[in-house]
Amino acid sequence: MKSFASMKRLKNEKRQEAITSSGIKEKVMSTVIEDIIARKVFNGRGEETIEVDMITSTGFGRVAAPAGKSRGKAEVVYYPQGGVEQAVKKVEEVVAPEIVGLNADSQEEIDKTLHEIDGSKDFRAIGGNTAFAISLANAEAAANSSGLLLFQYLGGQVANELPFPLGNTISGGQHTQGKSPDIQEFLVLSYGADSFLEAATANVQVHKKTRELLGKKDKLFNGGKSDEGAWVANIGNAEALDVMAETCEEVSGESGFECGLGIDVASSSLWNGRTKTYDYQREKKKRDSGEQLEFILELIRKYHLVYVEDPFHEEDFEGFAELTKRVKDCLICGDDLFTTNGERLSRGIRLHAANAVIVKVNQIGTLSDALETIEMAKKNGYTPVMSHRSGDTCDWHIAHLAVAFKCPIIKTGVVEGSRIAKINELVRIEEFLGDRARMADVKIH
Ligand code: PGA
Ligand code: ZN
Repeated sequence: MKSFASMKRLKNEKRQEAITSSGIKEKVMSTVIEDIIARKVFNGRGEETIEVDMITSTGFGRVAAPAGKSRGKAEVVYYPQGGVEQAVKKVEEVVAPEIVGLNADSQEEIDKTLHEIDGSKDFRAIGGNTAFAISLANAEAAANSSGLLLFQYLGGQVANELPFPLGNTISGGQHTQGKSPDIQEFLVLSYGADSFLEAATANVQVHKKTRELLGKKDKLFNGGKSDEGAWVANIGNAEALDVMAETCEEVSGESGFECGLGIDVASSSLWNGRTKTYDYQREKKKRDSGEQLEFILELIRKYHLVYVEDPFHEEDFEGFAELTKRVKDCLICGDDLFTTNGERLSRGIRLHAANAVIVKVNQIGTLSDALETIEMAKKNGYTPVMSHRSGDTCDWHIAHLAVAFKCPIIKTGVVEGSRIAKINELVRIEEFLGDRARMADVKIH
């Protein structure tokens, strides 16, 4: 019996033959996948991760997968049992025989084939990170084969909008250990800048000034940083917000444009399902859902927050909806809530749960799945926020995805190697676009 991929391969060959007779054989043949090589490498936390090389007759793509620490329950399973080593073996034994010979320019077909090979709903057989690395390396190889940059290949000639960088400046919660704020991330969003370079520069200024102020608040602070390059200090939520409000205001004054303040509450990690409360250990306070709503509303009002991620736990669509209804000029964004999953986002849209959605391609597995979620978000007035993971690598592909898929914001830290890799790639894209480059239209609702 023929495998489904070998039947598709036959179909592809027929298509190539047909096209060959009309004289453009070379172009079509150039995207045929010749080999896939997978290997074990490390992410910035020193954890093992998978990297994939996709080789076509005239192109090449290489992608390494990132990893989250405060993961949503509905994310795909990163690796099969046996971890990265097993995933590498699966690529050699199960995936490569099905994919080699297909056309890299048929992204949807590659992604569909990955689903078919896996057979589960959550990529537990080959691993979601395996699917992610193959899917994205395929797009990169296809772009490379056509002599285009990834953002041009995926976004076409009209792709000329740069996202605003949203950067983690002070870390807390699960991204730290010991005495730090309960809220996971304190973020800067320089949404008034005229160019990406100016926005990134302002974020770096905020990050720098924050260090100076933290030294005054915490005498023992010695410049310690989290995985994402954000400061880790012995302070509470309010102090972190006070510091950030001050630095954002100062940099806004100096730069002449708005540097907004945001938070990622990552509430699922505070939620205690038994007591039905959000447990703020440092503050020694437990808040039920109603109190959590009032607390977040108060923070938005007091600090003029323009961005709030995961203010309620990942199953509380109603809590999200109530908050979204009551705020103005603030993005309410679902990360663990949606996990880049179209079904979960469509439930959120029905319930008016939020107005923004985090896009982490490895939460869902393939590029096609992520694109579907982004399209759904845009159609329904949700702002898609392309995002890194806390355990990332110097892979820069999400910079291209943000531009190609018109995500007005990219969440990728301010400093630190893995974050800077993406930011610097956006600087290059902006330079490449030259006069055509525009900043995206960011809707602070
Ligand atoms: P991660 O989460 O550690 O799962 O990448 C970061 C975030 O919550 O945005
Ligand atoms: Zn988050």
